Amino acid sequence: AFRKFTVAIDGPAASGKSTVASMLASRLGFMYLDSGSIYRCATLLAIQNNMKDFEEAKTVEKLVEKILGTKIDMVTEKGDGEGLRRTRVFMDGVDVSSELRGNEINKLVSLVAKFGEVRDAVFVKQRELSKGSEVGGLVMDGRDIGTRVFPDAEVKIFMEAKATCRALRRYNEMTTKGMDVDKTTNKQITFDQILDEIIRRDHQDQTRKHSPLKKASDAIPIDTSDMSIQQVVTTIEQIVKSKLKSL
Ligand code: CDP
Ligand code: CDP
Repeated sequence: AFRKFTVAIDGPAASGKSTVASMLASRLGFMYLDSGSIYRCATLLAIQNNMKDFEEAKTVEKLVEKILGTKIDMVTEKGDGEGLRRTRVFMDGVDVSSELRGNEINKLVSLVAKFGEVRDAVFVKQRELSKGSEVGGLVMDGRDIGTRVFPDAEVKIFMEAKATCRALRRYNEMTTKGMDVDKTTNKQITFDQILDEIIRRDHQDQTRKHSPLKKASDAIPIDTSDMSIQQVVTTIEQIVKSKLKSL
């Protein structure tokens, strides 16, 4: 068996990757995998096991063992073929989906993701989880999908949007979902905090040594600042369809 078609979607935080990737996969009948969730799982494992000193090589080594030893499952709800399907993430059978999106993980995830050893362990999980799509198509989103994970992807998209725009999207999302309280301080999270957080995380992701966030030379850039979700999905769907025709 071989993978017929891979769509790699990369870009900074809250550029719209996961929403668009999930809808696109649904329309095309492809499998969808959110690679950021695996890095978030790795971060949750670090928190659960009280790992703090990442300058210590032993800590990273222990975390890698935990990642490889944990069963990660992603279950995407069956959609109506059009709309957004929710994906639930399980670690050893426990649903950790909402925990993964919390502020504690947001703060720590890009630190955890900068280690080459952690990235190699996540790479193993990415391959495992995408096995189910070997005979169909796959849409995967993240930071290094077009550059490292699937350098031969048939379609590569680099999604961008202005930082203030992305922060506003995340802010609206967090307020609607009631996730706008910092659990450690019990304080309301402000728009400015989210903006700072996004800028800091993007910078860390762009400047790290191992597979930094970067547009692949053959990726198609899409600035989604003034685009609706539907517009972005349709744009990429057309790119995929014309590529499919040319094969
Ligand atoms: O949803 P959002 O864009 O805020 O984040 P995410 O996609 O869940 O990714 C969380 C973090 O995981 C990123 O800030 C990166 O540090 C890391 N990540 C990565 O390094 N490589 C990937 N392919 C995906 C995520
Ligand atoms: O996965 P990533 O962090 O790149 O972004 P996301 O979680 O898919 O999108 C962040 C938020 O922006 C979601 O609440 C989307 O509904 C919203 N969004 C938007 O308003 N307009 C777009 N063109 C794309 C996403």
